[in-house]
Amino acid sequence: MRVLLFTGKGGVGKTTTSAATAVFAARRGLKTLVLSTDPAHSLADAFGVPLGHEPTEIEAGLYGQQVDTQRAFEDSWREVQQYLREILEQGGVDPLEAEELTVLPGADEVLALLELRAQVESGRWDVVVVDCAPTAETLRLLALPGALGWYMNRVFPRERRVVRTLRPVLSQLAGMPMPPDKVFDAVERLHAELAAVQELLTDPARSSVRLVLTPEAVVVAEARRTLTSLSLYGYRVDGVVANRVFPPTSTDPWVAQWVSAQAQQLEGIASSFDGLRVWRSAYRSGEPVGVESLHELAEDVYGDSAADGADPLAVVDTPDPISVERVASDEFVLTVALPHADKRDVDLVRKGDELVITVGSHRRALALPSVLRRCLVDGAGLRDGALRVRFRPDPELWMRQP
Ligand SMILES: Nc1ncnc2c1ncn2[C@@H]1O[C@H](COP(=O)(O)OP(=O)(O)O)[C@@H](O)[C@H]1O
Ligand SMILES: [Mg+2]
Repeated sequence: MRVLLFTGKGGVGKTTTSAATAVFAARRGLKTLVLSTDPAHSLADAFGVPLGHEPTEIEAGLYGQQVDTQRAFEDSWREVQQYLREILEQGGVDPLEAEELTVLPGADEVLALLELRAQVESGRWDVVVVDCAPTAETLRLLALPGALGWYMNRVFPRERRVVRTLRPVLSQLAGMPMPPDKVFDAVERLHAELAAVQELLTDPARSSVRLVLTPEAVVVAEARRTLTSLSLYGYRVDGVVANRVFPPTSTDPWVAQWVSAQAQQLEGIASSFDGLRVWRSAYRSGEPVGVESLHELAEDVYGDSAADGADPLAVVDTPDPISVERVASDEFVLTVALPHADKRDVDLVRKGDELVITVGSHRRALALPSVLRRCLVDGAGLRDGALRVRFRPDPELWMRQP
């Protein structure tokens, strides 16, 4: 079972590349689903066939699906929203505004993630290719399970039983309505499901992300930042597809200029994404629409690496985005891979059992492993694309049992 996610800037060729990769997999005899989570669906256009909300057969062993994020949420989710609305209203937020706010950010993403997991769990597929929305939305999507978990642990107290008996008291104390049981149930279920999605998508044995880009400075710069953010959230990027590469044979001076500009960018890509596989996808003379055109494109892109015996669909070893090492009897180092991160954009705060890492506009509250909870942060540094945080035992906590 393999899950391949494709993301990148708008219009670079995510859908085309996802669709082509799916055709490539299916024609190797793998039962393949390509699923689009981009609300602006164009997967059906790429295949030139209609696709529904359920997996639709395109050819033998190849299915496509466009997740319908406009579909009504289940009732329990409405209750969660109702509860949040009440909280906001009690907090003095205008009801209309509360309505707006509780069309919860990420509602689309929640549906897409749950559908992805359902398909993976169905056991029907050898390969699931995910045609993601442009980068910003995708990062929101992939940050959601962690963020929601964090949020829920705060809004919804951990110990339900305690809450049940103390509800009237707590309500008075906190000055806000406590969630009814139904809401608790819905929230807990959602929380558990999203945790499972995160586990699936960060599982090194099954899932990886591939960046689609075009060899243009602006696009490459965004892809580098995406690599940083994905690493922060613990996802593994295992390859880059450089799309719309001009063939170097043209004598047309306009094309020749593009070729030389692209050549420079391609060099930059090789060094920026050092250690990752970089595939090239030629700028074709027409839009690659339909299974045959997509298959041709895929053969051009992956053919060579496949001929070398390197399976372009295979999982490749990538270093763990996060690791803990004991470097001395009284010193531990937590390493978080943050390729290309700029020191000025990185911020670090210890909050109880969490380490809150901010990189630009992205933030992750990392739950510390138990050994580090009994330590104090002793220093941190960003070097060679990795954040290293030093921990020393806290004399007060260290001798206690974990
Ligand atoms: N290698 C290519 N050669 C020619 N046209 C391409 C190529 N890749 C993508 N296109 C075309 O570019 C447009 C955008 O591609 P698409 O895959 O929809 O991008 P995205 O999903 O990233 O927004 C589509 O019309 C598509 O057919
Ligand atoms: Mg697309």
